[in-house]
Amino acid sequence: MKEPLLRTENLQRQVKDKRIVDNINISVYPKEVLAVVGPSGAGKSSLLRLLNRLDEPTQGTVYLHGQDYRRIPPRELRRRVGMVMQFPYLFPGTVADNIRFGPRQRGIELSDEEVEALLERVGLAGYGPRDVSHLSGGEAQRVSLARTLANRPEVLLLDEPTSALDEVAKAGIEALLREILSRGEFAAILVTHDLDQAGRLANRVALMEEGRITRMGEAEEVLRAYQALS
Ligand SMILES: Nc1ncnc2c1ncn2[C@@H]1O[C@H](COP(=O)(O)OP(=O)(O)OP(=O)(O)O)[C@@H](O)[C@H]1O
Ligand SMILES: [Mg+2]
Repeated sequence: MKEPLLRTENLQRQVKDKRIVDNINISVYPKEVLAVVGPSGAGKSSLLRLLNRLDEPTQGTVYLHGQDYRRIPPRELRRRVGMVMQFPYLFPGTVADNIRFGPRQRGIELSDEEVEALLERVGLAGYGPRDVSHLSGGEAQRVSLARTLANRPEVLLLDEPTSALDEVAKAGIEALLREILSRGEFAAILVTHDLDQAGRLANRVALMEEGRITRMGEAEEVLRAYQALS
């Protein structure tokens, strides 16, 4: 068996008397896309936020390439475990400024060509000088993705990356994600309410309910079981 890229061990986050993430043990392997589905409030976003230490676990830990993530400086961890959220949060300024931000924090200055190559990857060739305040929702999400890719992550956390978009933009972002994920450069964990999307993008699916993973397996099998329940 291959070594997992990311593995959680009894991962838990308790807020007051509620375990919003309750003893999660999952492994994600290189190149794999794991979808996490489940009802609203199940703890899906809370789980993702523990995986790059935006929140601290109250018990358990995460291993990245076998290394306990508490031994990795948080900034390096967040570079290696990148996140794209439902609503892209871009800094005021140009598209290029946003793309350069992450590498600059590590002392790397991206050339115009490198910025353009990243923008081409997300279907936004020539967008570098544009002001982010004039982007559509779909374009902003593409910039958000390019900004994460600029950090060369090993794991990509995607929290409902298409749910704030209209149908056309959604189809575009999903196609882009599929293309990017199919290259196998990194592993991804995709939280989505769209079960068809989970089926199209993921190899495996985990069902999360009340803080726990209640089912995990082949995408088709878990999605069929969840659809039968809901
Ligand atoms: N900082 C917090 N303090 C207290 N409770 C929280 C906090 N963040 C989340 N919760 C609670 O934890 C539970 C899980 O929330 P979470 O946002 O992770 O669910 P979710 O599965 O992502 O839901 P959705 O599908 O609606 O996005 C909810 O009951 C929520 O109210
Ligand atoms: Mg959520």
